[in-house]
Amino acid sequence: MKILGTGSALPKMTLTNDMLTQYFDTSDAWISSRTGIKQRQVMSDEHLEDLAAEASRHALENAGLTATDLDFIICSNVLDEFISPPLGCRVQSLIGAQCPSINMNGACAGFIFALNTAEAYIKSGIAKHILVLAAEMPTRMVDWTERGTAVLFGDGAGAMVVGEGSQLKAVHLATKSAIDCLYQKQFINSTPFDIQEANKKSALQMEGREVFKLAVSSAMKDIQALMTEFKLESKDIQHYILHQANTRILDSICLNLKEDKSKFHQNIQRTGNTSSASIPILMDELNREGKLKEGDRLILSAFGAGFSTGTCLLQW
Ligand code: COA
Repeated sequence: MKILGTGSALPKMTLTNDMLTQYFDTSDAWISSRTGIKQRQVMSDEHLEDLAAEASRHALENAGLTATDLDFIICSNVLDEFISPPLGCRVQSLIGAQCPSINMNGACAGFIFALNTAEAYIKSGIAKHILVLAAEMPTRMVDWTERGTAVLFGDGAGAMVVGEGSQLKAVHLATKSAIDCLYQKQFINSTPFDIQEANKKSALQMEGREVFKLAVSSAMKDIQALMTEFKLESKDIQHYILHQANTRILDSICLNLKEDKSKFHQNIQRTGNTSSASIPILMDELNREGKLKEGDRLILSAFGAGFSTGTCLLQW
């Protein structure tokens, strides 16, 4: 599989740390030092499918293709206004594609799971050109009176058009069931036969410290396993593009790997944690800035609720 084009879209409203002090007791100093985040883009009058379609159009344009060239759309998404039909179906009509579309929910690691599925479809000949898309609005998942979670997230969409090639060298996926540290239940209708208690909480529940430890240990394990498998040393990897969850998580992984900080790209300062959209948004920025050179090796690694992790090795 090869990446033919990248695209991204962020909502227009910028929410700075200082602006958050209107909603709860917090400070720019606390948020910056604990997370690295200075501001995030949040949805106001936008709909998620509009951001997703904009990111997809940019990726198609970057690939030099049109929507009718697509054979499949794979959309990574956690929260959407619609339960059905899924987001990818609505994006299909907005961009003018005619191919089948599926949605995947792999939480924050969802984009790597979607890339892995795209590669399987390409290898098997099911599809030649696939739009792999992630669009997320985690700011609508948190309780806006809870400062512990509300400060962490931003909204956005990232996309890639992929096709045949040998850029993707390996993918490693893992799920280790650990629900309690990071989850969100949704309200569902009850029936006359229901004897279970209805869900009272609908906001994201998170044990921050536990998630921090799991994120660092699982990403380290996955990255080291890939490097050992391919007999790679530090000098062989030019870019680490990790899920933008928290600067301190990224710094810990970088330190434990004894890597150069400049290889660990970050945009979380501007975007916050955009869930599964964070990796394709960051990849698009690096691609458009010309930072990815032919032959460069990239490690992409994402982690999130599940606890699920996805790591892959790409050669640009
Ligand atoms: N502003 C100011 N103070 C805050 C705050 C905020 N937004 N959120 C929490 N605090 C306070 C707490 O109330 C607590 O106060 P206390 O000591 O008086 O009780 C103190 O800060 C420490 O809280 P704690 O939750 O222990 O902080 P922490 O050092 O663990 O940092 C996170 C919290 C969320 C930043 C950190 O745990 C983390 O990054 N976890 C990973 C989260 C993540 O990446 N999730 C997504 C994964 S995909």
